[in-house]
Amino acid sequence: MAWSMNLAVGLMFYLLSVAFPVGGIGANWGTQATHPLPPLTVVNMLRNNGIQKVKLFDAEYGTLRALSGSGIEVMVGIPNDMLATLAGSTKSAEKWVSRNVSAHISANNVNIRYVAVGNEPFLQTYNGSFLRTTYPALRNVQAALIKAGLSNLVKVTVPLNADVYATSNGLPSGGDFRADIHDYMIQIVNFLSYYGAPFTVNIYPFISLYTDANFPVEYAFFDGNASPLTDGSATYYNMFDANYDTLVWALQKNGYGNLPIIVGEIGWPTDGDRNANSVYAQRFNQGFMSHISAGKGTPMRPGPVDAYLFSLIDEDAKSITPGNFERHWGIFYLDGTPKYSLNLGTTNSGTLVPAQGVKYLARQWCIFKPSAKLNDLQVAPSVSYACANGDCTSLGYGTSCGSLDVGGNISYAFNSYYQINNQLDEACKFSGLGVVTKVDPSVGTCKFSTMIQPYYSDARLDLGKASRLLASLTVVALLMIL
Ligand SMILES: *[C@@H]1O[C@H](CO)[C@@H](O)[C@H](O)[C@H]1NC(C)=O
Ligand SMILES: *[C@@H]1O[C@H](CO)[C@@H](O)[C@H](O)[C@H]1NC(C)=O
Ligand SMILES: *[C@@H]1O[C@H](CO)[C@@H](O)[C@H](O)[C@H]1NC(C)=O
Repeated sequence: MAWSMNLAVGLMFYLLSVAFPVGGIGANWGTQATHPLPPLTVVNMLRNNGIQKVKLFDAEYGTLRALSGSGIEVMVGIPNDMLATLAGSTKSAEKWVSRNVSAHISANNVNIRYVAVGNEPFLQTYNGSFLRTTYPALRNVQAALIKAGLSNLVKVTVPLNADVYATSNGLPSGGDFRADIHDYMIQIVNFLSYYGAPFTVNIYPFISLYTDANFPVEYAFFDGNASPLTDGSATYYNMFDANYDTLVWALQKNGYGNLPIIVGEIGWPTDGDRNANSVYAQRFNQGFMSHISAGKGTPMRPGPVDAYLFSLIDEDAKSITPGNFERHWGIFYLDGTPKYSLNLGTTNSGTLVPAQGVKYLARQWCIFKPSAKLNDLQVAPSVSYACANGDCTSLGYGTSCGSLDVGGNISYAFNSYYQINNQLDEACKFSGLGVVTKVDPSVGTCKFSTMIQPYYSDARLDLGKASRLLASLTVVALLMIL
């Protein structure tokens, strides 16, 4: 029995490796959503779309369990808030590896290939909080992998934001690691190099466009319409190549010119900002896929590019501190529906395949009662409350629901809160201003969605979800009293 299972799995690995060239495109699978799809649904979706590599932000048991036997290459992640613990104790690193890597490889046949130690730990907004713990944590995790006999199979890496390096002359050849973290970077790079581990970098032309009104839009894309940048014998037609090569130069300048590079995150959001829409996202992601599928690489690094799209599915519970677009990076909506046509070069259909067997709540919505008055004193507090606890990132200038009138805005906010709270009657009260309707209020690009059914990872009580549900029920009860 076990033997034939192994044979079947082995055969599957073989077929997969024959069907697709080594490499292929990866995807980031984040789960900061109010209603994540069941992990098995996501794994089937990955397989149906020929996505053979996933990058996770933690090592959640249910997610890894769902990946068992799939053959999909996995990068598990260690969140930043665990770095101090792992840096401070070899025992805790050993426990982490044993529980979150070894067990899944040996008992569950999960194809874990990388451990991401931290997630953009040197981001400037962290004020240096993780500067001193990232490297010791990396060292302890590597030591634990060696002790577990896994260091040949599983490589460590640290996904870093692209601002860990900069250019002194505006050209890739001026690239070096940022002066204030130079020593920390060299320590990490030297370690990765010694253990044959890759450098992982996240590159975001969208963010450049978002933060710099003068950024040349065409340079963010891959159509070759931007005025090119000449750097010695190299010519750059898009920001991705130039940014990637700035890293190559930084590595080379410090003696690590051959260090393998993984693009840990690359993508474009579809909502929450005037430059975030399906047209731009499609153009960017399709452009990127075509760009790398030729296998040409960049002027400084000819050859295949190893990359993970950011991201697979929208996450409606992400912090919007970076911007309202943060919840809209998926190539799929929350319910696993593709947002636009995208040919990953991995399927015969040449387009994205939706998630199968997704279950929805009833086709009903909560809207602003037509008979209610716009100047009702309860409108403002109700909308603030709905937006604070729901998701209003699709409202605002240039977004998908940006052209709603005031009443439409209120309805959108009410409905978001109502759906996120699983269409509880109490979640459509709003001091008598809300009413449930069976008529879809969607207009044009503005989608009033109905939520998918909540998924509980386990028959046992999931404390995180239960406390969130309890909190929302309490709030709903409070609203009723008010
Ligand atoms: C394994 O990973 C999970 C999810 O990231 C984490 O909560 C847990 O503490 C880890 N286990 C150990 C033993 O460190
Ligand atoms: C970083 O510092 C700024 C200014 O002192 C502060 O407002 C912010 O909360 C700090 N962020 C973190 C993650 O500590
Ligand atoms: C709708 O709400 C958004 C976000 O709060 C706001 O920017 C916009 O001005 C509102 N539109 C109208 C017509 O009230």
